[in-house]
Amino acid sequence: LENRQILLGSQTHAKSSLRRFIMIDERVDEIYGDSIRGYFRHHAVEYHILTLSTSEQKKNMDTVLQCTEELETFGISRRCEPIIAIGGGVLLDIAGLVSNLCHRGVPYIRIPTTLLSLVDASIGAKVGVNFSGHKNRLGTYYPPLATFLDKSFLRTLDSRQISNGLAEILKIAVAKDKKLFALLEENGSSLIQDKLQDMHVSPLIIQHAIQGMLDELAPNLWEHELERYVDFGHSFSPVIEMRALPELLHGEAVAIDLALSTVLAYQRTLISTSDLNRVLHLIKTLELPLIHSVCTPDLLHEALQDTILHRDGLQRLPLPTAIGSARFFNDVTVQEITIAIDALKRLI
Ligand SMILES: NC(=O)c1ccc[n+]([C@@H]2O[C@H](COP(=O)([O-])OP(=O)(O)OC[C@H]3O[C@@H](n4cnc5c(N)ncnc54)[C@H](O)[C@@H]3O)[C@@H](O)[C@H]2O)c1
Repeated sequence: LENRQILLGSQTHAKSSLRRFIMIDERVDEIYGDSIRGYFRHHAVEYHILTLSTSEQKKNMDTVLQCTEELETFGISRRCEPIIAIGGGVLLDIAGLVSNLCHRGVPYIRIPTTLLSLVDASIGAKVGVNFSGHKNRLGTYYPPLATFLDKSFLRTLDSRQISNGLAEILKIAVAKDKKLFALLEENGSSLIQDKLQDMHVSPLIIQHAIQGMLDELAPNLWEHELERYVDFGHSFSPVIEMRALPELLHGEAVAIDLALSTVLAYQRTLISTSDLNRVLHLIKTLELPLIHSVCTPDLLHEALQDTILHRDGLQRLPLPTAIGSARFFNDVTVQEITIAIDALKRLI
């Protein structure tokens, strides 16, 4: 009931005045559109559905402006008509930016429909789009009014999209949650097969992953502190992902970054051979890549330089010190990275 009130407004609204602008991923609309329309019809809500064909290439300001034009035509009321965003991380990031820019902020509700967006993209306050070949270069912090999590959406994802989301869960596991790591080790293959539809292990894994994110993000929502464990896997991956488009998904680029950072940690004798092997083996079990042909020393050097700008002049590179813990480093060299790339190439 409480969720329905957030979604549809309080009982004080006259029913005839209820209007909602709904932004929905095209594929999600194909699968779930009839039930979503049925829901709003049932509650006598006047709705306008904006269906977006999403991709990393279309996650840009042109799309944001197209959406704002449609929102303008709808004529959204500034405070009492929250925009409802239903889709994966791309749709949610676009919808969040549209909501933030219009009228300097219209409330919005996130309903993630991919594993990656359920455990990661819908948890924090960040919204944004790609710009000038750079990942999420134009963006803001704009927390939603509410986020509704429903893992039954995951049943219609293909297994590659499940693996993609598992990469963000693995990030939390290696950096700060060894229990979560063990759960992934024990259940990795079945999670992919069952698309997290079981009622026992998956809820636990999702809960651990989200709690891990919340513990990091809640006290540092505006990122005043730039040493962030949630940046594990996100130091080299933004540039890797953008250069490998459309070959790599977001989580796949994160997995490569996790593998690289773990090998860098091993080379520095921060972690044991056994922990190194466990991490690399789990990445493979989760059907994620260890390396990609775009990963040359030059490209990764460029990626690190971009990360240094983003992290205010220092690498602040999270490297694992064991499974479930990490520390930050500022002195990783191109030579170390080159050796790590070669090591990963030998493993595939
Ligand atoms: N804002 C943040 O904090 C944050 C954090 C992590 C990632 N992200 C962003 O998230 C994006 C990646 O998100 P993603 O992995 O969800 O990709 P995505 O949004 O591109 O969705 C992946 C694919 O799944 C389809 N899809 C979505 N839900 C479905 C369902 N239930 N059934 C069948 N198909 C479905 C989509 O149409 C799409 O083709 C990246 O752009 C990344 O930068 C943002």
